[in-house]
Amino acid sequence: MLKFRSGLDVLESKNYLYIQSFGCQMNLHDGRRMVEVLGSHGYQVTDQPEKASVILLNTCSIREKTQAKILSALGRYAGLKRKKPDLLLGVAGCVAQQEGAKLFAAAPFLDLVFGPDHIVELPRLIQEAQKAKKVQIGFVDANEYSFLRAIPRPGQEDPTALITIQKGCDNHCSYCIVPLVRGPTISRSADDIISEVRDLVDAGVKEVTLIGQNVNAYRGYQETGEDFIFLLRQLNQVAGLERIRFTTSHPKDFSDDLCLCFKELDHLCPWLHLPVQSGSSEILRRMKRGYSREDYLKIITRARQVCPDISIGTDFIVGFPGESVDHFQETMSLLEEIQFDYAYSFKYSMRPGTPAEQLEDDVPETEKSRRLHHLQSVQNKITQFRLSAMVGRTVPVLVEGPSRKGLPQVCGRTPGNHIVNFDIHRPEVPTGDVVQVSISEAGSHSLKGKIFQEGMEGT
Ligand code: 5AD
Ligand code: SF4
Repeated sequence: MLKFRSGLDVLESKNYLYIQSFGCQMNLHDGRRMVEVLGSHGYQVTDQPEKASVILLNTCSIREKTQAKILSALGRYAGLKRKKPDLLLGVAGCVAQQEGAKLFAAAPFLDLVFGPDHIVELPRLIQEAQKAKKVQIGFVDANEYSFLRAIPRPGQEDPTALITIQKGCDNHCSYCIVPLVRGPTISRSADDIISEVRDLVDAGVKEVTLIGQNVNAYRGYQETGEDFIFLLRQLNQVAGLERIRFTTSHPKDFSDDLCLCFKELDHLCPWLHLPVQSGSSEILRRMKRGYSREDYLKIITRARQVCPDISIGTDFIVGFPGESVDHFQETMSLLEEIQFDYAYSFKYSMRPGTPAEQLEDDVPETEKSRRLHHLQSVQNKITQFRLSAMVGRTVPVLVEGPSRKGLPQVCGRTPGNHIVNFDIHRPEVPTGDVVQVSISEAGSHSLKGKIFQEGMEGT
């Protein structure tokens, strides 16, 4: 889970915003848009909730535990509100969309509840809530929906950016609440995406990650046949853009032509996040995923044939209703057979309103935990093994800035999305440069290396 607390303070400003985002990249991205929209209305971000005039919790409802964490975070701000009655407390994101006005009953001190479609109207909603108190708003009509662009900052420090290319999901996988809280798929036009990318590149961005719930089902203008491959080909020609990634894609829409893009498009990074969820065809059928174990294995074989260096990650759910020990064994054998570079894994969590709510949640919690723990311990060894295989290689790393440890150590990513930490031997951080790094050590989730030939970084 990504947790995002923003950090800049400007002392003179009266309007301070404290925002906490939970959940997926999509939500993290929405949180950044909220900061930008309110920033252009005079709000400054603070990392101290006590100082804020507006507190927003940008929430995620994908699993019950995530949702419970958010509600308890909300409880913590109730005390602040008592001390400072003018404080405006808002809930955004998927829990806001799902629960709507019910949240006011659970948390009477709350002022504003708004779904992910309404970020652009945030300044007005805050004003209304300040005047009238208790404002709640849900979906907008598909034809009124407009995508919010990132606002590029001149000399942008972060050389990477997320770009939303679609919102919502039409798949209705039986366990998933996303189609209920984010609505049906709406794709953005390729022109709009490309022009946002150009603006970001002008501001210093070198790498974009195209995000959506199911990016390979992207359809821009139907008239001109804008599909995902069309979009990738267009972006591959944007001058100054060095790296393109995308997430998340769905195995049922993963065509051979898309696979071939990894060979055809020189800026498309060899990195694929392709959630499998289970290794059992029977469980996949009950999950309504639209592919079998064999279909998935074929995609991976083909992807590795087309692009031998590709790094592949996935998501798993363990303990789905009716998952027997044998079904779980099939998941384990798939994981061992494929040797994923990394995997995110979760215990099944029943979500209200989903088709799987009708199925008995019959795998006991202790058994779910046992399966999860087993899967994660085997995958950790595989991840470690795959990272170790990088030791001794020299790879191009896009420098993102100082590492967590701080200078002289900096961090960046390989084309396969591995994090690499290495020392630099000069005062200026080469943020945004691609440097050659020789990998010397593999940690449990990242790599260490030595800059190959300082001063000769550009590739
Ligand atoms: N329970 C557990 N995990 C879930 N995911 C989605 N819905 C659920 C649920 N109800 C996981 C899937 C998905 C990832 C984003 O979250 O693995 O790919
Ligand atoms: Fe949920 Fe399935 Fe859509 Fe992914 S593809 S968001 S798992 S319904």
